Amino acid sequence: MKIRKAVIPIAGKGTRFLPATKQISKEIIPILKTPMIHYVVEEAVKSGIEQVVFVTSYGKEEVENYFDRNFELENFLEKNNKHDLLNIIQNIGKMVEITTVRQKEQLGLGHAVLTAKNVVGSEDFAVLLGDDLIFNDVPVTKQLIDVAQEQNGSVIGVMEVAKDQTNKYGIVDGSKVNYSTLKMNRMVEKPSPDKAPTNLATPGRYILDNEIFKMLEEIPRGAGGEYQLTDAINLLCSKKDVYAHIFEGDRFDTGSINGYLDATIELALRDSQLKDYTVKLLKEKLEKYE
Ligand code: G1P
Repeated sequence: MKIRKAVIPIAGKGTRFLPATKQISKEIIPILKTPMIHYVVEEAVKSGIEQVVFVTSYGKEEVENYFDRNFELENFLEKNNKHDLLNIIQNIGKMVEITTVRQKEQLGLGHAVLTAKNVVGSEDFAVLLGDDLIFNDVPVTKQLIDVAQEQNGSVIGVMEVAKDQTNKYGIVDGSKVNYSTLKMNRMVEKPSPDKAPTNLATPGRYILDNEIFKMLEEIPRGAGGEYQLTDAINLLCSKKDVYAHIFEGDRFDTGSINGYLDATIELALRDSQLKDYTVKLLKEKLEKYE
């Protein structure tokens, strides 16, 4: 399995981040100085991805522009001898080839992925959901690609969640191949805790066999009246080998304000220039508000 392309759906309206998303795309909202989508694309690039396919909607042009060159800004930084910044800005513009396709109606994640079919062509590919940031030295997408190559099948990234959280995720079921990998027999979309087959949840990292497009064309509308990627993966399980892999990494649900705050504090503490200040600030705030 050679994985060169990654589909990243970004068509959502980001209502959990209103009012900011009234005027800017959720993906552009930064954690410290870096837009959230930058971290996701960086994960893909560090995993060997050569082409990113954004599935977009009206108003998302700024995400595409962010990954383009900005010669006016580059000239300005050069003239003002701001070479470190110039380097950062140039590198973002050269990071990866970006293609966009439009999802004209919001009919679910399965529909979003199917929208990228013509650009993906006949290759197997990765899907990364931008609401989840996962930090690790070996990026999670790379971990999944390695397992996909080893097992020669599709691989879904999973993590253990508390039983009462299963209704927020696709939950996988299967039998263990080794301590961190399962051969999947099915996947259930957001089951209540009593119906969840396991506590292994998918936070939005997938390596998919190209055949998934056929399945996406076959599935009817599922949970919430939407075309669910989960339903297509279920069909794929009945025809081809699909694995679930418990990845290594720190995951943040930056689709929610709590996860966003968590990721912001975490990255401030990981930044050598901000760490001492952040600790001091947090101590002061605790004294003031506890
Ligand atoms: C989607 C998927 C779900 C997955 C989740 C991860 O749901 O349908 O299987 O666990 O993303 O964030 P959504 O959160 O878009 O409702």
